[in-house]
Amino acid sequence: MKKILVAGAGGQIGSELTTYLRGIYGVSNVVAADLRHSQFLAESGPFVQLDVLDPRKYAFVVHKYGVDTIFNLVALLSATGEKNPSLAWSINMGALNNSLEIAREYECALFTPSSIGAFGGDFPRDNTPQDTIMQPNTMYGVCKVAGELLGNYYHTRYGVDTRSVRFPGIISSVTLPGGGTTDYAVEIFYSAVKGEQFTCPVPDNVYMDMMYMPDALRACVELMEADPAKLKHRNSFNIASMSFTPEGIYAEIRKHLPDFKMVYDVDPVKQAIAESWPNKLDDTCAREEWGWKPQWDLSSMTEDMLKAITKKLTKREW
Ligand code: SER
Repeated sequence: MKKILVAGAGGQIGSELTTYLRGIYGVSNVVAADLRHSQFLAESGPFVQLDVLDPRKYAFVVHKYGVDTIFNLVALLSATGEKNPSLAWSINMGALNNSLEIAREYECALFTPSSIGAFGGDFPRDNTPQDTIMQPNTMYGVCKVAGELLGNYYHTRYGVDTRSVRFPGIISSVTLPGGGTTDYAVEIFYSAVKGEQFTCPVPDNVYMDMMYMPDALRACVELMEADPAKLKHRNSFNIASMSFTPEGIYAEIRKHLPDFKMVYDVDPVKQAIAESWPNKLDDTCAREEWGWKPQWDLSSMTEDMLKAITKKLTKREW
């Protein structure tokens, strides 16, 4: 990776991945692109306002900057996708299709995240294997499964260096996620720090895989830097670090803030989605094929999030 384009750089993952990549590969070698202008991204390095659904402008940017690696992070998430499935398909698959075609033409490596949302149907919920039944019942999941297949197709058919991980819900303190089923695990920290009661939209006992942003960022770089000869899988690897229920994260936060209160107002759409997803992924293949190893768990993540959100909201140290 010498010249990198982050498409969808203004989103939850993109905003932190851009900064992380600039720290490793040099500011001028990481171009951030997003539909909306971002003062922060534009002031901190090269930035282009780009609609990735416009293939000509997308190709122009890749050519102009001599890009050799694309991170395509453009997507509508699961809950938003259910509000407008056709739009989710157009955006998620349109962005992927253009990324694949441009990667083929300009010989770029391409990272596109898949998700725990790719699972569904009658598969093992506990220690969900790398290769198992994938029959998602959300448009987001349909796009992710189709995307995994397309990524592998472009690799075997055209030799495009496509790689991907199935991200759990990502927990971070910089940019809020939007429209996802796992968003509660980020929002809960803002309520806790503000001293407000949190209303949880997901049932108390549903386990979902989650990951702290520093692990997610490291996974992106480690997979893209991995020796291709060792990769038996490509699109897409299970990765895991922690799995908890709403009650589990509530109890963890209360170790630090004992007066914090949570109530439930379960959203039936989010409930159905959450219950159709794995409880906990088995990430053995990622560990074996490219050395994946998480560094954060529920306890260390919670402590760090509380510190970061307190600093962000009050400008005071925890
Ligand atoms: N965080 C995503 C969502 O909840 C899952 O990948 O939609």
